[in-house]
Amino acid sequence: MEVKTAIRERRSIRAFKADPVAEEVVEELVQLANMAPSAGNLQAREFIVIRDDRTRESLAAAAGNQMFIREAPVCIVVCVNYERIANYGARGRELYVFHDTGAAIQNVLLAAHDMGLGAVWVGAFNEGPVKRMLRLPKHIRPVAIIPVGHPVEQPKMRVRRDPSDILRKESW
Ligand SMILES: Cc1cc2nc3c(=O)[nH]c(=O)nc-3n(C[C@H](O)[C@H](O)[C@H](O)COP(=O)(O)O)c2cc1C
Repeated sequence: MEVKTAIRERRSIRAFKADPVAEEVVEELVQLANMAPSAGNLQAREFIVIRDDRTRESLAAAAGNQMFIREAPVCIVVCVNYERIANYGARGRELYVFHDTGAAIQNVLLAAHDMGLGAVWVGAFNEGPVKRMLRLPKHIRPVAIIPVGHPVEQPKMRVRRDPSDILRKESW
């Protein structure tokens, strides 16, 4: 699939079949995630693959009962690794880590779409319970949950702002 096509066609998918997603497919998604740029190529990000029913149920609960997290056969939790970004000081800690993980998340969403899978970027969750259930050490911070599965919906494109609205007048 053309990159431009994937960008245009991708949608947040929040309804999944129960069919499993093969281990190799998830591995490839993680590899493609980490092909994204990262500050100083430090790759200050980590990925946790969750298939276990009870853990997905707890993740859904921590995310305000977004039950599609439980429905998807697999979830990828994207985390920052603060140790890896330490050399960049405050800017690394407060900003670059979110560039690094955001770029990786977008790669997963686009690659999943290219593979005929559906996925959604979930940022609304309580970090405390997620850190505890996944037993994450202090330097690992979960920033997004990506439920992945075979889609059972084909949502329409959500409206985007007009270019005149997002292109600042100061552009030159
Ligand atoms: C930082 C961030 C956090 C998000 N959190 C959630 C979330 O918690 N639950 C959800 O259903 N969608 C979440 N989304 C997905 C957005 O709602 C979605 O991308 C947006 O409505 C545009 O729709 P589209 O992805 O289909 O183009 C999040 C997206 C981003 C970038």
